[in-house]
Amino acid sequence: MREPSAYDEWRAGPYSGQSVDALRAVAPATCVDCHMPRVPGASGGTVRSHRFPGANTWNAEYHGLDEQRLQTQAFLRDRVALSVLPPRVHAGKADLTVLVANRGVGHDFPTGTVDLHDLWLEVAVRDATGRLLMESGALDEQGRGAPGAHRYGSLLLDGRGRPIDRHNLWDARKVVYERRIPAGGVDLARYRFALPAATRWPLRVAARLHLRKFAPAFHDFSFPEGVVTPLSTVTLTSLDTRVAVDAAVSAGALLDWGIGLLLEGRAVDARPVLEDAVKAEPGSVDAWLALSRACREAGDAGRALMAAEKAAPLSPRDPRVAHARGLAGEGARVPPQPDLPRATVSTDAWLRAHPDAALEGAPGHVHGE
Ligand code: HEC
Repeated sequence: MREPSAYDEWRAGPYSGQSVDALRAVAPATCVDCHMPRVPGASGGTVRSHRFPGANTWNAEYHGLDEQRLQTQAFLRDRVALSVLPPRVHAGKADLTVLVANRGVGHDFPTGTVDLHDLWLEVAVRDATGRLLMESGALDEQGRGAPGAHRYGSLLLDGRGRPIDRHNLWDARKVVYERRIPAGGVDLARYRFALPAATRWPLRVAARLHLRKFAPAFHDFSFPEGVVTPLSTVTLTSLDTRVAVDAAVSAGALLDWGIGLLLEGRAVDARPVLEDAVKAEPGSVDAWLALSRACREAGDAGRALMAAEKAAPLSPRDPRVAHARGLAGEGARVPPQPDLPRATVSTDAWLRAHPDAALEGAPGHVHGE
């Protein structure tokens, strides 16, 4: 098991400007560009900030550093974008997919101490009269947790099947899940709920992405004598929108959706979505490259090559294009990724007692099923 990996994630993503696998073209940025932004210097000009804004809002609160806390919160805001696809309705139920796109984090989101974070999506759906149809990820009454929410980060178990919740990573034996969104990548959060006969359209979807730097269990372990600083929740981004069944999907959302499916390993499903994306925006290099990858992974080298050829005149010097052409031309398939180390012990008892916990991070899991 590898621990700090932010550098590798950055290098493999779009911000390094060196990756042929980048999902989206962005202006390259180094660690310093983001984490040490230029600020006015004492004697004119600018200097690199040594506040190192990141995800640690708690540390600033603990030490009573208001300016540090405000800057960290501002740094975190709107780096991840939320949007929704038009719901699919069948047999009195609605399927809703929330697209969670990593737009401004230079590596996986989250990164660093992902076993300690508490990071989840809160979603509420109402009909046009305001009636609540579905709610997921609201904090419980004690404000400690949001059971069953769609979560980001990791859940590890030790050799006796207990959760690793004290940063005791050396005890880890099993990865229950690890859900992180690579730079430029998209995660698909799926929800299903009943539609009462009197449901009035359009539906109203409110979604918020929340972060607590430390999960309550770690906070309690660190401060057994009681609460020193309340664990505040920072809302990183929010969405409040109306959705109708027959609404058109924008070119940008089609590409996000296709990328989300690709990252789940569902190239066959991604392909028609990305065909629609290139139709909606034929000038998008990113969309042609994503389509090329979907076709390649789905085993259609011919269409993969054709899609890569379409990207070539749009961005002739883009190394991603040359790479895609090369792979497609060889009819090559992307090699399967090596499995994460598996447990050598039985952790079934813990998982049986906590069925929600595994599902919170399972790829493709439908919340509310
Ligand atoms: C495009 C902007 C950007 C770039 C480039 C970037 N980061 Fe980040 N980084 C962020 C944001 C935003 C967060 C907070 C969200 C998160 O934790 O994923 C973050 C969080 C982190 C964290 C977690 C901090 C915590 O308190 O949990 C670490 C560690 C980190 N970055 C290291 C790096 C390193 C090392 C590099 C270069 C290899 C780098 N970052 C490049 C934007 C960036």
